[in-house]
Amino acid sequence: MQTLSLWEHTLTFFPQFLGALRERTPADSTVAVIGASDGKFVLPLTAAGYRVVAIERDPFALHGGPVSLPGDSEAHAPGLIDRLTSEKLHDRVQVIEEDFLTTEIPEGHCDAVWTSCSWHYSANHRSPLADFVGRMQSLVRKRGLFGAEFMMPVEARHQFIEHYTSPEELAGHFGAGWNVQLTLRTGPFTEQPHIGQPYDHTHRMGLLIAARTAT
Ligand SMILES: C[S@@+](CC[C@H](N)C(=O)[O-])C[C@H]1O[C@@H](n2cnc3c(N)ncnc32)[C@H](O)[C@@H]1O
Repeated sequence: MQTLSLWEHTLTFFPQFLGALRERTPADSTVAVIGASDGKFVLPLTAAGYRVVAIERDPFALHGGPVSLPGDSEAHAPGLIDRLTSEKLHDRVQVIEEDFLTTEIPEGHCDAVWTSCSWHYSANHRSPLADFVGRMQSLVRKRGLFGAEFMMPVEARHQFIEHYTSPEELAGHFGAGWNVQLTLRTGPFTEQPHIGQPYDHTHRMGLLIAARTAT
């Protein structure tokens, strides 16, 4: 890749999702990425041959602009659109610049759906976590794949916000019509400074991968 995502060095379970995707879906499948940001996962998915529907509501993440980096330095961040263009991958990606909670995408439109640390954003707390998860589930065709990595509670205030969840609680959203394939979790770990977080800070992350059944 000619450019790096601003999130390039944050911890991720994406390799586990990509492994499940390769096992279960053809190489030219369509994957929806919810909270696509500047393309940390959109670019590798597209480069691997997948078509991608990238949903992101933050104009800066999509179109780029000036950014303050850890260490008080300023830079220009390219954003998803420029990154796709410079890699000549733009014709395989449909970018939807909207709030996922209100955007309209046909049910079963995608072979798989993926999100990384998006639903804990405070703007999503206005509706139950079930709305976000249910919308993601509805995009997936029968026999398709659902993958989410997410923030688990660390601070006391997180205990009162259901959007900081655990693999066990999240699995409760996957009843008839779904098989949970894999759950993983980290303990508390120190994440180095990144955009929006200028200091070392503590996270705990979870992963859930589920497959939609044929019925
Ligand atoms: C932590 S960032 C993503 C970092 C991650 N490592 C990556 O590149 O995928 C989460 C992104 O989700 C987006 N997001 C959160 N809620 C959203 C929503 N309801 N609709 C669209 N985008 C959303 C945010 O704007 C942000 O860009």
